[in-house]
Amino acid sequence: MSKLIAPSILAADFGNLQRDVELVNDSKADWFHIDIMDGVFVPNISFGMPVLKAISSHAKKTIDVHLMIVDPDRYIKTFADLGADILTVHYEACTHLHRTIQAIKANGMKAGVALNPHTPVTVLEDIINDLDLVCIMSVNPGFGGQSFIENTYKKVSQLKELITAANASTLIEIDGGVTNKNAKQLTEAGADVLVAGSFVFKSDNPTETIADLKAICN
Ligand code: DX5
Ligand code: ZN
Repeated sequence: MSKLIAPSILAADFGNLQRDVELVNDSKADWFHIDIMDGVFVPNISFGMPVLKAISSHAKKTIDVHLMIVDPDRYIKTFADLGADILTVHYEACTHLHRTIQAIKANGMKAGVALNPHTPVTVLEDIINDLDLVCIMSVNPGFGGQSFIENTYKKVSQLKELITAANASTLIEIDGGVTNKNAKQLTEAGADVLVAGSFVFKSDNPTETIADLKAICN
C-alpha cells in the first residue's frame, strides 16, 4: 500500500480556512488530520464542532480526527455526525478502551488509538486486532511545531512487529514534528501515515511540500 500524507489543519491559516482546505483537496495529500484539544487532557484548546463542520463541508478526502480530550465516549456520535471517517482516542484517556473502540465502529467510523511518547506499544497487544489505526505521538500532544522525539523510530518497529505477529491490518500513523528529514526513516520502519502540520503549512509552497513528502516515502 502506498504511504499516506495527512496534513494537520491545526497549522492552517484559520482566517483562510476554506482556502487551506481546498489546497489540501487539490494536493497529493491523502487525508485531513483534525486535532481536537480540550484544555484538560492536553494544556491547550484547539477548536470544536462548528469549525469541524466548516472543514467537513469543503473537505473531499478522508477526515482523520485525533481527539485529545478526556472521556471521549461522550462525543463519539457527534463526531460521526460531523463527518469523521476515522476517530482516534488516546489510550491514556480511556478507562474502558475496548468498549470505546466498539462504540466508534458501531457509529460507522474506523477506530484509532493514540499513544503518548511515554506509553509503550505493548499496552495494545490485547486489542490490536480491533484497531484500524495506531497513532504514535512523536511529540507530547497539545501543540504544533514541536521537535520530533527520536525514540519514535524504535516504537514504530516494535509496533510493526506486534501487528505482523497478530496478523492484523492496523495502520501506523506518526504525529508530531514530521519533516522531509525523518519521513523516509519512519516509513522504512513501518509507518503507513505521516501527519505533518507546521512543515506543510509554514512552508513557502504547501502544495509542493505535500508532494515532496509523498514522493520521499513512496
Ligand atoms: C499535536 C497534534 C499534531 C500537530 C502536528 O498535539 O496532535 O497533529 O498538529 O503538528 P506538527 O507537524 O507541526 O508537529
Ligand atoms: Zn494530531
